[in-house]
Amino acid sequence: ADPRLVDTFGRVATDLRISLTDRCNLRCTYCMPAEGLDWMPKSEQLTDDELVRLITIAVRDLGIEELRFTGGEPLLRRGLEELVAASAALRPRPDISLTTNGIGLARRAEALAAAGVDRLNVSMDTLRQERFATITRRDRLADVLDGMAAARAAGLKPIKINSVLLRGQNDDEAVDLLRFAVDNGYELRFIEQMPLDAQHGWERTEMITAGEILERLRTGFTLTPDPTERGGAPAERWLVDGGPAVVGVIASVTRPFCGACDRTRLTADGQIRSCLFARTETDLRALLRGGAGDAEIADTWRTAMWGKLAGHGIDEPGFLQPDRPMSAIGG
Ligand code: GTP
Ligand code: 5AD
Ligand code: SF4
Repeated sequence: ADPRLVDTFGRVATDLRISLTDRCNLRCTYCMPAEGLDWMPKSEQLTDDELVRLITIAVRDLGIEELRFTGGEPLLRRGLEELVAASAALRPRPDISLTTNGIGLARRAEALAAAGVDRLNVSMDTLRQERFATITRRDRLADVLDGMAAARAAGLKPIKINSVLLRGQNDDEAVDLLRFAVDNGYELRFIEQMPLDAQHGWERTEMITAGEILERLRTGFTLTPDPTERGGAPAERWLVDGGPAVVGVIASVTRPFCGACDRTRLTADGQIRSCLFARTETDLRALLRGGAGDAEIADTWRTAMWGKLAGHGIDEPGFLQPDRPMSAIGG
């Protein structure tokens, strides 16, 4: 039998996304309420040793080729550099990346690169200070910009910027954001907003669609399809003014890419999710703490992924948001 994480639709998960904490130092209005959420107690979170054990099983026994550390905000996890170094020591060495809001990155970019982070995605929805403070409820744009610059100086490449456009708040900034990214050598991706907020306030009509994003970008740039292979990547890419600069659009809602999905997810409290929108989770923490062997853990993980659904079902009648918000699942 195939030792990898295959499902009934023939997809193979080779990309493991690990949420290291559900906490965050921003309060993006489309993600969580101003007061934050009921954070996970420390005792429920996997320890560094438990994480390294699961990552080792994933890479050695389950064919995982890429690791992405997310949150909440992964830089809030104290042992991040050590986790990265332990991951980079595995063979075959996985590709290692981070999805972060960039706060605190300026101080840590060098150490993270030295530990083995290959590439980095930074979330930034606006270049205007007041807007940033309104959208994230924290006045930290300068920290994010410093963080990105430090990451670039540390040799992390490519650095991608993730931007969510919000109607009436920053949707007039698409061209400015792309100009900034092109001028600074960052790869910008615009993301359609998904129903994953803690407040359950998502409305389809409020979402800026991929079609609208492209329409706005075309007022400032010429876009032509990027001929390079997309693979399992969520972003559809376009050459900007003939290239080499590219811009991506992650159209999870209007042009779902679930059929090519290559992801498996681990939450900070040790639950496997086969999809962002999965209705069930598989508890690996209980196995770890109950003394299970590596083979049993690997088998349980395979079974969890075998049951992966065809797609997120956002457009189907009776769609329900997952029980956890994005900040607790991992982006
Ligand atoms: P690379 O392309 O490898 O750099 O990674 P990525 O784009 O998958 O990573 P990132 O964490 O930057 O994710 C960007 C956005 O893609 C997220 O904010 C989500 O909106 C979306 N996304 C990530 N994973 C999934 C997924 O499994 N399903 C869907 N529908 N969207 C996802
Ligand atoms: N839909 C799409 N993207 C989201 N993000 C946070 N919440 C949502 C959502 N509901 C984005 C953040 C960040 C990335 C990790 O996920 O803006 O760029
Ligand atoms: Fe934090 Fe990301 Fe949620 Fe913003 S979207 S509050 S940066 S987890």
